Amino acid sequence: MSTQALPTTATVAVIGAGAMGAGIAQVAAQAGHAVQLLDLKPGAAAQAIAGIQKTFTRLAEKGRMTAQAASEAGARVSLAATAAELSGAALVVEAVVEKLDVKQQLFAELEGIVSDDCILATNTSSISITAIGAALRRPQRLLGMHFFNPAPLMALVEVVSGLATEAAVAQAVHDTALDWGKSPVFTKSSPGFIVNRCARPYYAEALRLLSEQAADPATLDAVMREAGGFRMGPFELMDLIGHDVNFAVTRSVFEAHFGDPRFTPSLIQQELVNAGYFGRKSGRGFYDHAAGALAPAPTTEAPATLANGLALWTGEALGQALAKRLTAAGVPFTAHDVRHNDARVLRVGETLVHLTDGRSATQRAADNSHEATVLADLTLDPLTARGIALARADHCSEAAFKAAVAVFQAAGLSVARLDDVPGLAVMRTVAMLANEAADAVSQGVCDAAAADTAMCKGVNYPIGPLAWADAIGLPQVLAVLDHLAKAYGEDRYRASLLLRRRVAARRPFHD
Ligand code: NAI
Repeated sequence: MSTQALPTTATVAVIGAGAMGAGIAQVAAQAGHAVQLLDLKPGAAAQAIAGIQKTFTRLAEKGRMTAQAASEAGARVSLAATAAELSGAALVVEAVVEKLDVKQQLFAELEGIVSDDCILATNTSSISITAIGAALRRPQRLLGMHFFNPAPLMALVEVVSGLATEAAVAQAVHDTALDWGKSPVFTKSSPGFIVNRCARPYYAEALRLLSEQAADPATLDAVMREAGGFRMGPFELMDLIGHDVNFAVTRSVFEAHFGDPRFTPSLIQQELVNAGYFGRKSGRGFYDHAAGALAPAPTTEAPATLANGLALWTGEALGQALAKRLTAAGVPFTAHDVRHNDARVLRVGETLVHLTDGRSATQRAADNSHEATVLADLTLDPLTARGIALARADHCSEAAFKAAVAVFQAAGLSVARLDDVPGLAVMRTVAMLANEAADAVSQGVCDAAAADTAMCKGVNYPIGPLAWADAIGLPQVLAVLDHLAKAYGEDRYRASLLLRRRVAARRPFHD
């Protein structure tokens, strides 16, 4: 299909010269458009333009663009003093305050100024596109063009259609974003769109684990980074985003879903907000960010002594990776190259280690009538993971737990001990991330490819949650969720219909 992108000769107007508006103006100017920037606050647009021009100069100094391209791009951004000056724009992107009535009023005013084929886009993160459009004479040309902060660096653009948005308009904005070097995805107006909805479990499960005293924030953050492969742990990430903002987004998604327990906000985070502990910006959140404050170290297990008689089950990815890592380390073992029906990973002495299936270790020890039961958490790639989380059954002795710890340490992994919470940390989080993405797909919010692209490009996940679930194996992911639902007795952990259907059909999310 030929591109529907706006030609670079088309003028782009950006309204709101704050963090987002300035970033969007920079992107459009760099792509070759003449850009008009308008802000209500006197001096704000001029200041933003000076900032954009300085950025272009810096990019030229670093060799990322030529000096001529930098000065031309800078010269393409101009100031508009009033909305009336935007009559020649082919695309208007609004990035003003997050208030429905302000946005409705602004677009209604614009309708009287711009031509009928001018596309009207809003950068809103949380307001219904359909609701904004309801105030317009021609809502079919209004849509969401949702950039991520900072707009020049983050590749994702969610192209959000409201009930009235014309498909051709969404296609034009999608193709234009592509021309701007972005990774656009189609989605429809629904609470949180893709990213702000599907990322909720990353924070929610971490807060839940903390409230259940699974481990401290530094330890859980380290597990999510070193075992899960996430760029930032959930607690450090919430401290960066700001608890006021993160809590408000969670609340708005929760309320917009009419109180669906899946999105229930955390009392721990509410207390941080009540205290004014917003994170980095206020100097304190989960961590102390005061100048000179030392970051707390994660708690890992002290070196343990490896016992003789190690057996590995290499039918599981974890067992297979351990076999390779232990061979490289010169550690002897016997290998069973079969998949054990209870996801057994290894046996050392009396100790049995299984991959978590969402039951607690204590439950599994009881189910199997085997006291020395230890569970291993998921790792993104067990061959390269730097760490792993383990939990032991209440029945399991400390010595039997240490025997398991020693094996993972011998394979070069640092071991974090979690209290015996069902699903541990990475497995439970990834299962819930995939579950949310599956629900978004089953409700037509986006397709599976868009869900994965959105999470990789919008929040830097190491792999899309649906592709990750495919790699784990959907029956395992479903088992984790069903066990969590049983253990907690809460609707929060209900499995997505689409996940259950794919398991029954023996089909992955990505065929
Ligand atoms: P900001 O507060 O930095 O900037 C907003 C700007 O809009 C201010 O300069 C203000 O003077 C101006 N403004 C307010 N009302 C106006 C009006 N009626 N006409 C013209 N200018 C007006 O806000 P920020 O962070 O840039 O966000 C803007 C929009 O982008 C919001 O809708 C927000 O939800 C959305 N967004 C924000 C993200 C973020 O991480 N900050 C990410 C993605 C979307």
